[in-house]
Amino acid sequence: MENGTIICFQNNKGGVGKSTATVNTAHALALQGKKVLIVDVDNQCNATTLCLPATTKIEKSLYHIFRYPEETSLEEVIVASKYENVDILPNQETVAGLEPSILVSEANKPQSSRFLILRNILRPFLKQSSYNFVLIDTPPNIGTFVILALNTADYVIVPVEADSAFSIQGLKNAINTIQFLRKDTNPDLRLLRLLVNKVDKRTNLGKVAITRLKESFGDQMVFDQMIPVSTLFQRAESMFKTILAYDRKCGGSLAYINIATQIIFQCCGNPSEN
Ligand SMILES: Nc1ncnc2c1ncn2[C@@H]1O[C@H](COP(=O)(O)OP(=O)(O)OP(=O)(O)O)[C@@H](O)[C@H]1O
Ligand SMILES: [Mg+2]
Repeated sequence: MENGTIICFQNNKGGVGKSTATVNTAHALALQGKKVLIVDVDNQCNATTLCLPATTKIEKSLYHIFRYPEETSLEEVIVASKYENVDILPNQETVAGLEPSILVSEANKPQSSRFLILRNILRPFLKQSSYNFVLIDTPPNIGTFVILALNTADYVIVPVEADSAFSIQGLKNAINTIQFLRKDTNPDLRLLRLLVNKVDKRTNLGKVAITRLKESFGDQMVFDQMIPVSTLFQRAESMFKTILAYDRKCGGSLAYINIATQIIFQCCGNPSEN
């Protein structure tokens, strides 16, 4: 198995479940024996908050990687999360202030090598680390940090809310960004699948959404496993936990375990071989 498959969770729409999916998928992959690194590129820092004990004082973060690249190594920034076998490269709100200077310095580079700073730091590091997966949580826009993340990744998972999965054009625009970057700066980038989230079993909307999305994007482009809507997600979040740490047997947890199994299968072949 090739080490360090990088998966970016991205949708420019807010609140669809990117951070929840990133951290729960990481936890579910770890429970299946994988070593996972989460990279939080969102200055809202939700993935960081869900991963680190409230008492943790973040000494160094993605901010330092971008602000002081010569003096900061990934080894000193990455820390263990609350979940066994899940590490995190944390973020801090201050990173937002770096956006203008990153934009200016990238604008002076040739088109084909723009916005590769995260890739050029992370990919060489992964070659000499033991992570099986790197999951990147992104902010709800198509700005600087999202482009940096997409230029680093092998795959993108797009979480979609079941009842807004009908705004196909919005999703197509998001997916066009993938095609655009693939041609320009990251030929490795692929859409892994759309992930239909917040499905209410009492309505048929989840299944209808999956059918519509498959018609628009292809059968292979949508996870058949949907994530149920459940107040347990908010309850877990209010305790700064993954749903898997909160209640491993609930429907939401089982759904993420199944998603992790499918990711392992798709990215690494038969899980029993790994
Ligand atoms: N399946 C679910 N059922 C119920 N609530 C959920 C579910 N998934 C996520 N949530 C809740 O929805 C809210 C938004 O989720 P989350 O923060 O993961 O979205 P996001 O896409 O990362 O948001 P942003 O765009 O602001 O980064 C959170 O309160 C989260 O607990
Ligand atoms: Mg988020």
